[in-house]
Amino acid sequence: MKVWEIQNSYGIENLQIAERPKPVAGPGQIVVSMKAASLNYRDLLTVIGYGGGYPLPLIPFSDGAGEVTAIGRGVTRVAVGDKVCPLFFQSWLSGPVTAESRNRPLGGPLPGVLQQELLLDADGVSKFPEHLSFEEAATLPCAALTAWRAITREAPVGPGDTVLVQGTGGVSIFALQFAKARGATVIATSSSDEKLERARKLGADHTINYKTTEDWGRKARELTAGRGVDVVVEVGGENTLNQSFDAARVGGSIVVIGVLGGFSSPVMIPIVFGKNLHIHGISVGSREQFDDMAANIAKWQLKPVVDRTFPFAKLADALRLMQAGGHFGKIVIRY
Ligand SMILES: NC(=O)c1ccc[n+]([C@@H]2O[C@H](COP(=O)([O-])OP(=O)(O)OC[C@H]3O[C@@H](n4cnc5c(N)ncnc54)[C@H](OP(=O)(O)O)[C@@H]3O)[C@@H](O)[C@H]2O)c1
Repeated sequence: MKVWEIQNSYGIENLQIAERPKPVAGPGQIVVSMKAASLNYRDLLTVIGYGGGYPLPLIPFSDGAGEVTAIGRGVTRVAVGDKVCPLFFQSWLSGPVTAESRNRPLGGPLPGVLQQELLLDADGVSKFPEHLSFEEAATLPCAALTAWRAITREAPVGPGDTVLVQGTGGVSIFALQFAKARGATVIATSSSDEKLERARKLGADHTINYKTTEDWGRKARELTAGRGVDVVVEVGGENTLNQSFDAARVGGSIVVIGVLGGFSSPVMIPIVFGKNLHIHGISVGSREQFDDMAANIAKWQLKPVVDRTFPFAKLADALRLMQAGGHFGKIVIRY
């Protein structure tokens, strides 16, 4: 079977397709024939080796969808023919996050999903909603679940609440869709007016171009008649955090998720305690949260936004599109 590997050194240009033997399901294991994968910003960072990276060789990428083709002895929770997504954290099934639950993510350090046949523990998958294609389902394990956890568990939103989402990448577009489905008002930001138009078509109530409106945090507050937004889905990190504090209402929540603008930022401490802000750092979510999300996606018949799909062999082109920020929503790889 074919796999994509970061073999000897990091960099998009160093990714290689390699041949590996097909896996065999042992006791408690399953084999999933992968049909699609999706890109997350984390995968791009992994491929370019940010921060020293993982031991090589590594099969990258955490998110995908496929069909169970073999089950090992003792497996009862899934059957051959089931359509499933591998879980981002292979050992976080339910309950609050612990050190143990978050130490087995796919695509670094565990081998990732860019392999035609994927060997997993039977516990490490969930079924996805029937109305989704493999390409659409492949977007769920990291980006969607992170957005879901942010606005349903950490800082639950509903009618009467305003949510601010930053940029139009994977996490933010899912946050927009979920927040609208739950009846909240959404303010979306982007560097592109054309993408803001697309965000409006998806239901964004207000939009701000963060390139042309540098103090977009204040602008967001103005759009709530000065009160401030209830929840910020914070994916920018460097240079956005203080604006997120500015945008928030007194007693509001900032769910800290991403580092698109960089890894560190000076923080205006007085605004944090002055506004009595709640800062929630989160990393993805559990299988129980995935299943809850999947049930609601099915109930709403919600469709993930897949912007572009690339064939398996064109992985580098897909990563370069993400690096350039040329996408809206998700980029998908078809096997
Ligand atoms: N903590 C977690 O569990 C978790 C889970 C998933 C992702 N993440 C992190 O969350 C971030 C988003 O991930 P993703 O996969 O959704 O990324 P993505 O799809 O690559 O998002 C890229 C988009 O974000 C916008 N953007 C870029 N720089 C920005 C900035 N400085 N400020 C505001 N928006 C900016 C741009 O949108 P426009 O072109 O519209 O401006 C860009 O197209 C990443 O840092 C990722 O590592 C964390």
